[in-house]
Amino acid sequence: MTTTLSVIGVGYLGAVHAASMAELGHDVIGLDIDAERIAALQAGIPPFHEPGFEDLLATGLETERLRFTTDYADLARADVHFLGLGTPQRADGFGADLSHLEAAVDALAEVLPARGGAPTLVVGKSTVPAGTARKLAARLSHLEGVYLLWNPEFLREGFAVQDTLTPDRLVYGVHDPEDPAAEQAVAMLDDVYAGVLQHQAPRLVMGYEAAELVKASANAFLATKISFINAVSEMCEVTGADVTDVARAIGMDDRIGAKFLRAGVGFGGGCLPKDIRAFMASAEEHGVGESLGFLREVDAVNERRRERVVTLAEELLGGVEGRRITVLGAAFKPNSDDTRDSPALDVATRLRTAGAEVTVTDPQALENARRRVGGLVELEQDTDAALRGAELTVLLTEWDEYRDLDPAQAASLVASPRLIDGRNVLDPSAWREAGWEIRSLGRAELPSGRPSVAKAARGGAFTARSQAALV
Ligand code: UGA
Repeated sequence: MTTTLSVIGVGYLGAVHAASMAELGHDVIGLDIDAERIAALQAGIPPFHEPGFEDLLATGLETERLRFTTDYADLARADVHFLGLGTPQRADGFGADLSHLEAAVDALAEVLPARGGAPTLVVGKSTVPAGTARKLAARLSHLEGVYLLWNPEFLREGFAVQDTLTPDRLVYGVHDPEDPAAEQAVAMLDDVYAGVLQHQAPRLVMGYEAAELVKASANAFLATKISFINAVSEMCEVTGADVTDVARAIGMDDRIGAKFLRAGVGFGGGCLPKDIRAFMASAEEHGVGESLGFLREVDAVNERRRERVVTLAEELLGGVEGRRITVLGAAFKPNSDDTRDSPALDVATRLRTAGAEVTVTDPQALENARRRVGGLVELEQDTDAALRGAELTVLLTEWDEYRDLDPAQAASLVASPRLIDGRNVLDPSAWREAGWEIRSLGRAELPSGRPSVAKAARGGAFTARSQAALV
C-alpha cells in the first residue's frame, strides 16, 4: 500500500531514508531548512558520497514518488512524518543538542491541525538520550489523532541503502505497549515498512526509553569493542605480539565475534564519538554517571591511538619538524566522504601542529577535508602525486586503492620508503621486501626485526585482505 509520507531533515540519515521509502513505492516529500541542500537533492545531486544513493534519488525523482521542499505547509497531506534531524554534541559539553529536533516537532505541530484529526504518525529516527521521545510526545499531545513512535536507525555509512532496505532488526518505541493507540501506530508503521518486513527482519516493540537505549547501547558497545582491541594493541606493542593474531583468535569465539575488532587508529565519524559522550552525559543527568564511567576510558583509548601515530612518526623520522609526510585518507572510514571527527584528519592536523609539512589525499573526501583543514595541510587528489617526495607515508583510511598499492611502485615515488599502517591492512612482509621500513599500530617491531612467532609458524597466511573480511 502506498503511503504519503514526509522525512524532516534530509542529512545523511534522512536523505537515504526518503529515497529508500520512495523505492518501496511510497509518495515521499523530504524537508530541510537548508535551501541549498534541497535544491541539490531536487536536481538529483547527492550532497554526500554513498554507494547506491544517487540511483535511488534519480529513480525517485523520475517517478515523481520523491520530491523536496523547505516549506512545512507542504507536509500537511502526509500521513506519516519521519524525523531525521541531527543531534550533534552540544557546544557547551558532552550532551546531545536537541534543538533541531525540538524546532522541527514544533514546526510540524503548526501544520498538523490542517489534517482535522486524521490519524497521523510521527516517527523519530534520530539518536536521542532516553527520555527525549516522551518529552517530544508531550509537545504533540494537544493534537488530535497524532501519535509519536520512536524508531532508531542503525544504518552504517557506506552501506546506508542496504541497511535501510534490509536492516537486521526494526525497533519500535511506543508510549505504552499495552495501549490500543500504540497498536494502531505499530500497524501504520508496519504498512510503511511492508517491503522491509517481507525480508523477515525481526520487529521489536518496546517502551520509548528502551528503544532510545537500544540505539545508545548499540553504538556504545561498538565503540567499546574497538577501544578494547586498541587497548590490547597497546599491550601488543610493548610485549612484541601482533594484535591481528590476537583479534583473529579471540574473534573465533562466537561469544566475542570477529567483527569490529580491527585494531588501528580508532573510531571517528558523526556517530560513535558523540554518541558515547551523550550517553555518558545522560547517565550523569540521571545520577548514575559511574554506570557508564568506563566510556570515558573508551574515549581515552581512542584518543591515545591518534597520538600514538604522531609518536611513531617522530620515532621513525627522528622528529617531524619540517619533514614531508603524506597521509593516505581523509574520510573517517572508506566508502564515505564524511570527515566528521575523522581520525585521519585529526592525525594530519596534529602532525602539522608538530611542524611537519603534511599532504593529505583521499578518493572522495577532499572537498569536505578542505572545509575542515584547508589552508593547514596540502590536499592532493592524485595518490601518486601525493606520494611524490614523501619522507613518511601514513595510511589512516583503508580505501581499497591504498590497500592495493604496489609497494615497489610506491617506493619509486617517495623520497624515503617509510610507512605507518594505521589500519593494519597492508602486508608488512611484502612492504619490507620492497624496501620499506614499516610500522603498524599494535604490531611491535621485534628487536630482531623478524615477524612474531605466530606469524612465522603459519607462514604469514593471514593477509591484510583476510583481516578486511572481518569488517
Ligand atoms: C555507526 C554504527 O556502526 C551504525 O550502526 C549506526 O547506525 C551509526 O553509527 C549511527 O549511529 O548513525 P558509522 O558511523 O557509519 O556507523 O561507522 P562504523 O562503521 O560504525 O565505523 C565507525 C568508526 O569505527 C570508523 O572510523 C571505523 O574506521 C572505525 N572502526 C570500525 C574501527 O576502527 N575498527 C573496527 O573494527 C570497526
